[in-house]
Amino acid sequence: CGIIARVGRSDSVGALVSGLESLEYRGYDSAGVAVKNGTGIKVHKRSGKVAELKSAIRGSEPNGNVGIGHTRWSTHGAPTDDNAHPHTDESGRVAVVHNGVIENYEELKASLEAEGVEFVSDTDTEVVPHLIASHLAEVGTPEEAFRRAVQELDGSYAIAAIVDGFEAVYAARQGSPLVLGLDDGEYFLASDVPAFLEHTAEVVYLEDGDMVVVEPDSVSMTTVAGEPVSRDIDTVDWDPEDAGKGSYDHYMLKEIHNQPTSLANTVEGRIEDDGVSLTELDTFDGVTDVQFVACGTSYHAALYGARLLNAAGVRARAFRASEYGTADPITDETLVVAVTQSGETADTLGALERAEAEGARTVAVTNVQGSTVSREADETLLVRAGPEIGVAATKTFSSQVAALCLLGHRIGEDVTGDLPWDDPTTFFESLRSLPENVREVLDGDRAHELADRYLGSEAFFFIGRGLGYSVAVEGALKFKEITYEHAEGFASGELKHGPLALVTPQTPVFAVFTGTDDQKTLTNAKEAQTRGAPIVAVAPEGHPAVDAADAHLPIPDTDPALAGLLANVQLQLVSYHTANLLGRSIDKPRNLAKSVTVE
Ligand code: G6P
Repeated sequence: CGIIARVGRSDSVGALVSGLESLEYRGYDSAGVAVKNGTGIKVHKRSGKVAELKSAIRGSEPNGNVGIGHTRWSTHGAPTDDNAHPHTDESGRVAVVHNGVIENYEELKASLEAEGVEFVSDTDTEVVPHLIASHLAEVGTPEEAFRRAVQELDGSYAIAAIVDGFEAVYAARQGSPLVLGLDDGEYFLASDVPAFLEHTAEVVYLEDGDMVVVEPDSVSMTTVAGEPVSRDIDTVDWDPEDAGKGSYDHYMLKEIHNQPTSLANTVEGRIEDDGVSLTELDTFDGVTDVQFVACGTSYHAALYGARLLNAAGVRARAFRASEYGTADPITDETLVVAVTQSGETADTLGALERAEAEGARTVAVTNVQGSTVSREADETLLVRAGPEIGVAATKTFSSQVAALCLLGHRIGEDVTGDLPWDDPTTFFESLRSLPENVREVLDGDRAHELADRYLGSEAFFFIGRGLGYSVAVEGALKFKEITYEHAEGFASGELKHGPLALVTPQTPVFAVFTGTDDQKTLTNAKEAQTRGAPIVAVAPEGHPAVDAADAHLPIPDTDPALAGLLANVQLQLVSYHTANLLGRSIDKPRNLAKSVTVE
């Protein structure tokens, strides 16, 4: 879910709605706003996307300089109008938006019901306005009532509340992100910076246990327990332009096309004379093994990173963060690398917590400066891809891979003295040419034609070996996320051990060739072809697979460590064009959210 709040001297509703549009990548099951004016609190909310809320209130926007807003990814309760946020108490004096999960809500709800409170939604959140209202009757000041209500909550939350008659937003965070934006004459609170980036780049990242009261001319910060705290003001270096769609039909397409730039940013200043300079990271001398933890697309980047380290003779494995609890033992010589675009994924943060509790050294690889992971881990490597709005990760995957190449180089150097590449000169030349090579793939976009040719197939399979395996599973994930078609990624050698039973003339197989045991992958692809499946070779021009295949998606010649990254760009385009031909909701696929802050 995404939350936003604004306190200013002018009307808030415009900024709230446009903030929600920028936060929609966090969920889009329903949306709502509440603003306070001289006649009380006006709430507008409904199931569906922010655009529907926007057209519902067009022409009758509520006035008021203090307001809150929410865009939802349902956890408790279906995406209905009643379950949409903001939620209010029975009198409508208190309105609340919430991101996270209140674990003890059933208990709290039972005791409120025993006092005669009637609930109108199935959400965990609705207990909060009722609790605030009940404390308000006892303590008089909304600040104290809010504080007491929050003290009763277990679980994870970022909460913002408004109370009729008071020019303020009351907010607190525990386990879900909340950022304060400071502008001339107005303040914002939001789950993420893009929500208010068009207004200000001056931010304060709140920490767990923080509570803030934001009034038109002041902000007061304490802990939820009431102790004063002070937090630094940071300046975000994201360009507000990056958070817009520009002339592209979809954010995803814009972000795919942004990769020459985002990749250049990732490596900028980090390559020196065919060496890597990552001054933000201490030496890895003494590390015996590396464990990557990540989810979704970031997990696929982590798989890539682990393979690179293996090639440098370093023991390394990638784990799905949600499965990490029972994974390999950790020692104080273990390095745990959390890879997370948003830096807020609850499963990944949970894995990091386990690693820290067991004494591992931790590094965060994230795209979001100031995110929770960057504050929890010992050290941070920023991937610097810029804001990504499309729910399906594209440019952040390629930048994660590039960042993990740099990290792999450094770890190899420090731990074994070996590098993940046979020839560092070729690797660095390829790394420098990467933006140009990606541009070449984008300019020669043949994926559209293939998307058209295979539209309506029964299923879409992606195979690869070594680094190509990470690309195959990522290609399949992207494809299923945005086309809703059945897609699977397999290790090419595994095809014959089961999946081949699914292969028919109606199941195109995209085979990724990255220079590792390509001959074997070609044999596996032919095994599928013999059973009638059309084969698409994702490979350089002149590669032996090109003649054997039914279709070809070319990638420029490059170092084997980077070929997978280029192949992935081709697969991103295939997914995009297929989803577009099917008329899918590309930037906001059904049931998904970009940042999942619940386990
Ligand atoms: C969600 C998104 C995925 C993403 C995953 C991990 O499930 O839908 O696209 O890969 O979270 O996100 P992170 O921010 O940790 O990289």
